[in-house]
Amino acid sequence: MNILFAVSEATPFAKTGGLADVAGALPTALAERGHRVHLFLPLYQEIQTPERKFTEITKVTIPLGAEQVTGSIVNLPSYHPNLNLSFVRQDNYFDRPFLYGPAGEEYPDNGIRFIFFCRAILEAVSLLNLNIDIYHAHDWQTALIPVYLKTLYKDLPSYGGGSLFTIHNLGYQGIQEKELMTLAGLDWEEFTFERLEFFDRLNLLKGGLVYADALNTVSRAYSREILQPEFGFGLESVLAQRRNNLHGILNGIDCQEWNPADDPFISNHFRIGRMAGKKICKKKLLSAFNLPHENRLPLVGMVSRLVTQKGFDLILPLLKKVAAFETQFVFLGTGDPEIEESLTILARQYPSQIAFIRGYDNRLAHLIEAGADIFLMPSHYEPCGLNQMYSLRYGTVPLVRAVGGLDDSITSFNLENGGGNGFKFNDYTIKALEQTLKEALQLYQEPRLWQKLRQNGMRCDFSWSQSAAKYEDLYEKIKSQI
Ligand code: ADP
Ligand code: GLC
Repeated sequence: MNILFAVSEATPFAKTGGLADVAGALPTALAERGHRVHLFLPLYQEIQTPERKFTEITKVTIPLGAEQVTGSIVNLPSYHPNLNLSFVRQDNYFDRPFLYGPAGEEYPDNGIRFIFFCRAILEAVSLLNLNIDIYHAHDWQTALIPVYLKTLYKDLPSYGGGSLFTIHNLGYQGIQEKELMTLAGLDWEEFTFERLEFFDRLNLLKGGLVYADALNTVSRAYSREILQPEFGFGLESVLAQRRNNLHGILNGIDCQEWNPADDPFISNHFRIGRMAGKKICKKKLLSAFNLPHENRLPLVGMVSRLVTQKGFDLILPLLKKVAAFETQFVFLGTGDPEIEESLTILARQYPSQIAFIRGYDNRLAHLIEAGADIFLMPSHYEPCGLNQMYSLRYGTVPLVRAVGGLDDSITSFNLENGGGNGFKFNDYTIKALEQTLKEALQLYQEPRLWQKLRQNGMRCDFSWSQSAAKYEDLYEKIKSQI
């Protein structure tokens, strides 16, 4: 199949969260399976490094309201013969220091930037005769692609394929002033409650939900949860209408990038049966965070965007009681300034138990996975979550709330039969988190059981091959229905 993969971030080029991990790995996994994949990304400032040699493939000119805006499609040599790496270049829109805006803020013209991105991709499809079978779009930034395929571009012969829209996070909908309808070249006929309108504004994500031929989320549990008001962010009834075309495919992980046996970001490697390296990683991690080294104490780690989605309204009150727990905590992340401030204060109050590094640091993220004993993910909602799966590979036991992909990938340790790969709780309450943490800390003091639990996790297989095969089946299904 000829697959177009339109996305706003992908490793190793640009990343703010798990979307980039998925878009870095899935296209390659599909290319491995023999498909021709065209990956399109915006050419952000951070991608334009001197060692990357881009070749201009074509210019594109897009009408945005009364203006004609020109950009180009530039390519990079690819690391796989079946994978094409294309970038939409428009320096006024994308040559900026951040992907979407500084420190959790949005650039005010994000709507326009991503309208341009989507249209430029569709223009390229026709100019370059790409002959696409499946257009695969992700999150609000590329949700206009399925919209355009059913509206502005619907009668044009170059656009015969079907579309899949993947929801990675319903909490971000790309809601714009309705005036952008004109700029986007969309007919006001589309601005109705059933289609693009949302409280008198233009909801780009909703466009993806309404117009794509099929939808999926990044876990089965999340595909069901979003039909409920608690997780639907106001779009639950739109989703309910599409429930027959709404699928759930759990993300995979890149087992080469996240491999404790030869991870270039850590200097002491380990694997099942040879775990000495993990102990040294723990020591290094504690000193990187300036915490005293006490092997007796389990170390709880967290790497996260600092947003309420991730459970900070449970974590912060729990940390206030940290003196009652025989444990240490390390946190790495950036995001909401209030959460950053609270973690900074707590780390100052409990300097031998809590440490926080504010920032985005891939090397430290790998060191936390390698050196921690327990990985904390008490999310309020979690479409998939990748860190719990990385943790399993590194023998770091996930402690999660039973939602979305966390529920699909983690099973509680069973003392009777020795099964399970982590700790899991249901209620979104401080009490439930506290209770589960206590259980985990207790089990840590029983080395044989702990070793068993750790090994169960290290034996799990969440590689992309299974998930890529499921995407392939879904693409086939879409293709057979158009
Ligand atoms: P989300 O996409 O909601 O942020 P995921 O668990 O799917 O959550 O993915 C988060 C990804 O971003 C992981 O690869 C994680 O290691 C990475 N990440 C998040 N915050 C940081 C940070 N401060 N430094 C380095 N990596 C981070
Ligand atoms: C989103 C979700 C996260 C998921 C990631 C990749 O950012 O918050 O749960 O793992 O997308 O699909």
